[in-house]
Amino acid sequence: MTDRRFLNFPAGFLWGAATSHFQVEGHPEEMSARTSDWSEWTTLDGKISDQTTADQACDFYNRYASDIEICRKLNLNCFRISLNWPALCPDPPKEGEPYTFNAETVAYYRGMLSGLKAEGITTLVTLFHFTLPRWLAGAGGWTSPDSIKEFERFAALAADAFGDLVDYWITINEPLAYAYQSYVNGAWPPGFRNDYLKAFQAIRNMLEAHGKAYAALHQRTPGKPVSFTMHWRPFTAKHRWNPLDHMVRYYRDYVFNLMFPLAVQKGDLQFPYPLSSNEEVKKLSGPIPGLKGTMDYLAINYYTRELSEFSYKWPIDIFGVASTEHELEVNCMGWEHFPDGLYNTLSYDVSPFKYNLDGTLRPIIITENGFATAFSHDLNEGDWSLADDKRINYLTSHLTALHHAIADGANVQGYIYWSLMDNFEWAEGLRPRFGLIRIAYPSQERTMRHSAMVYADIAKRNGLDDP
Ligand code: FCB
Repeated sequence: MTDRRFLNFPAGFLWGAATSHFQVEGHPEEMSARTSDWSEWTTLDGKISDQTTADQACDFYNRYASDIEICRKLNLNCFRISLNWPALCPDPPKEGEPYTFNAETVAYYRGMLSGLKAEGITTLVTLFHFTLPRWLAGAGGWTSPDSIKEFERFAALAADAFGDLVDYWITINEPLAYAYQSYVNGAWPPGFRNDYLKAFQAIRNMLEAHGKAYAALHQRTPGKPVSFTMHWRPFTAKHRWNPLDHMVRYYRDYVFNLMFPLAVQKGDLQFPYPLSSNEEVKKLSGPIPGLKGTMDYLAINYYTRELSEFSYKWPIDIFGVASTEHELEVNCMGWEHFPDGLYNTLSYDVSPFKYNLDGTLRPIIITENGFATAFSHDLNEGDWSLADDKRINYLTSHLTALHHAIADGANVQGYIYWSLMDNFEWAEGLRPRFGLIRIAYPSQERTMRHSAMVYADIAKRNGLDDP
């Protein structure tokens, strides 16, 4: 038998794991006072499919020190977190009074980020990962123009409070996934359905807010790269012979994947025809001052592809529907296992963003990628889920595709697995488990899955044997 080829990654490659505040923290003040739209949303009937809340989540708020110790054991040199905007800014600003962050929450984040830095871990910090202060959500959230100045203020305060401990900034996580779930699919707060105008208004405001936050962060923490993440999802026509499925594929791909980063690249937001001929949509289109080129690196969250198909109903919906039938193996949320999509995304789809405005090659970081299996939240004892071969297969097949893309010229500098540990998966609750580390609720016992050991070995060797 010949030795398997070793897939070596570039020197200095970032190997990380990701979390987000609401999904892991169980922040005590946020949960007791319901300072966020999401902490309130989880208490409403029928919003979370397994009826769980994020009130405890992974208790990361109290356990971060031992979780950082786990990162060290896994040989990770990078970690992604997000800031709890609702806990840092529980109250609205008052006219004429200086605005400050909640001091206890600042101390918590400084403690955690210092702990990561003490281990030599590179930190990626997201400002907005889906949760809004309740006072801002009540004022219209991202559809209100207030969101722009409030986000800019939040970014400036975050830079002052934590800038010395942050290596990479992410302003907004997955703006399109957020707009879709919150204003079209109705699964996330504020729960609007098919309100495309609100979704587009939110996107417009997020672009303006991102541009302002980019400037505020650069001014206060010069040299620290700033970007936003995209949930990049390749779309495929369900019936390859059907031009209508291809039309749907085109619109879904343009709006979900391309429109936001193209607006940033060009400083100009353009909706596709025929949407662009709508009078209300026209008002949201056009140049956005200060936005052009505000993307120091490309941050890609990649999980799966989607099969898109035309829906035969009146009036015609150019966005069609996502097929519920699958061609490939799926995770517990129906997401197809499609590593070639990661290769194609990096090698072809993101080529409009390959270069910075000054002509230099723009770095790419995979800021999320992961696999979920379903296990009820009340399982505690036993060896359930530790032999997670499907996750190992997902991980190694995606890393192989990533290595292939790098060999073919993609400037990828890091890979961040979602997630370090099982956590609260939004409207799906605690049931989908993405973790390298298993969490038992409510004991909060942490146990390494086999995938964690495989990943630790990959991070240590800076590569893997070609599977
Ligand atoms: C992404 C989100 C992240 C997590 C994963 C599974 O869309 O950014 O918070 O829920 O999906």
